[in-house]
Amino acid sequence: MTNRKILFDFDKIIPRQGTGSRKWDALENVFGSNDVLPLWIADMDFSSPKAVSTAIIERANHPIYAYNTQEKSIYQSVIEWAKKRHGWEIEEEWILLAPGVVPSISLSIFALSEPGDGIIIQPPVYPPFFASIKDNDRKVIENPLLSKNGRYEIDFEDLEQKLAEPNNKLLLLCSPHNPVGRVWSREELKKVYELCQKYEVDVLADEIHNDLVFQGHKHTVFASLGTPVCKQSVTFMAASKTFNVAGLNFSFIIVPCKRRRGLIQNWITKLHISRNNVFGGIGTEAAYRDGEAWLDALLIYLEKNADTLVDFIQTRLPEVKVSKPEGTYLVWLDFRAYFTNDKELQKFLVQTAKVGLNAGRNFGTQGEGFARINIATQRSVLLEALTRIENALLNYKKI
Ligand SMILES: Cc1ncc(COP(=O)(O)O)c(C=O)c1O
Repeated sequence: MTNRKILFDFDKIIPRQGTGSRKWDALENVFGSNDVLPLWIADMDFSSPKAVSTAIIERANHPIYAYNTQEKSIYQSVIEWAKKRHGWEIEEEWILLAPGVVPSISLSIFALSEPGDGIIIQPPVYPPFFASIKDNDRKVIENPLLSKNGRYEIDFEDLEQKLAEPNNKLLLLCSPHNPVGRVWSREELKKVYELCQKYEVDVLADEIHNDLVFQGHKHTVFASLGTPVCKQSVTFMAASKTFNVAGLNFSFIIVPCKRRRGLIQNWITKLHISRNNVFGGIGTEAAYRDGEAWLDALLIYLEKNADTLVDFIQTRLPEVKVSKPEGTYLVWLDFRAYFTNDKELQKFLVQTAKVGLNAGRNFGTQGEGFARINIATQRSVLLEALTRIENALLNYKKI
């Protein structure tokens, strides 16, 4: 029998300082202090699958990094991965390459809406969702999620009202959802799909976390809800979160509708961003072709981290509220029993507990008193961070 733990040693600390890591090397800038333990930005403290570095090193050994083309085999690897992991059949011509999901969201907003149009989001949600709407002169329309004892659900009544408003042209869906860790069920997505069909609102589905789903849950590709595919959808996918290769700046925009695809392609052309990083496609293809066993082992490790965190909080910090994530490696912590003011909470986390988490307020007004922790790190690091929070809270006078 193969021993996964030895094949993939996620407990091994891999120092990242000095590698230009935003998470580890920008602490002074981000938190105003170098002595915080960083569990914030959404990348992992684990090595990518060996196949990724092998493929990149092999290409890097050739000393010319000039203009490159993207091989057909890259597209093929995405098609095979989507079919194998998500049961979704993509046609090659639907795939557009892009330098990342956030820029792809902006491109799609340019292409499928006009300045002044409303774009619906479901906060608390990934902060660039707000920025990509506001910065492009569209209007943020909030359909806040409802928390039921810490587990978040979609407010369908409110969603229908927002979709029915003619000025609201797009729904920007986060699936699985960052930061609340929900893997939307097929039934929930089907309801969203039906409402969007009814009011003719296109859906931009950010599915960057689609592979990071825990036992008992299944990711449903939004576009797959149509027959045979939802033409009113644009799907964003990447190997970046799954295989920890965000620095390769490589992602996919999957657009089944020819007209919509043409509109997005026009923006790619206009902005002259059709060329991709020479290593992006190589690393992505290697990950999709040879990274599956690594991913299966990673998911077991991440889920154990999620259990460790929830158990620690429920037994040792019961006033901090947490719900076990169904997917992603991001967990939403509710500190409102101690702090109602986000600035106070951040100050406490950074200066007293000496941990660097994401401030909840950045995910929308609903995040006041919350923080997001990234559990994609060695379990020993996670436990060190939790112990720091526990010790600091023990000395903190409850308000
Ligand atoms: C929901 C979501 N979308 C997009 C991104 C970032 O995508 P990219 O780095 O490809 O722009 C993240 C990163 O955390 C994310 O959580």
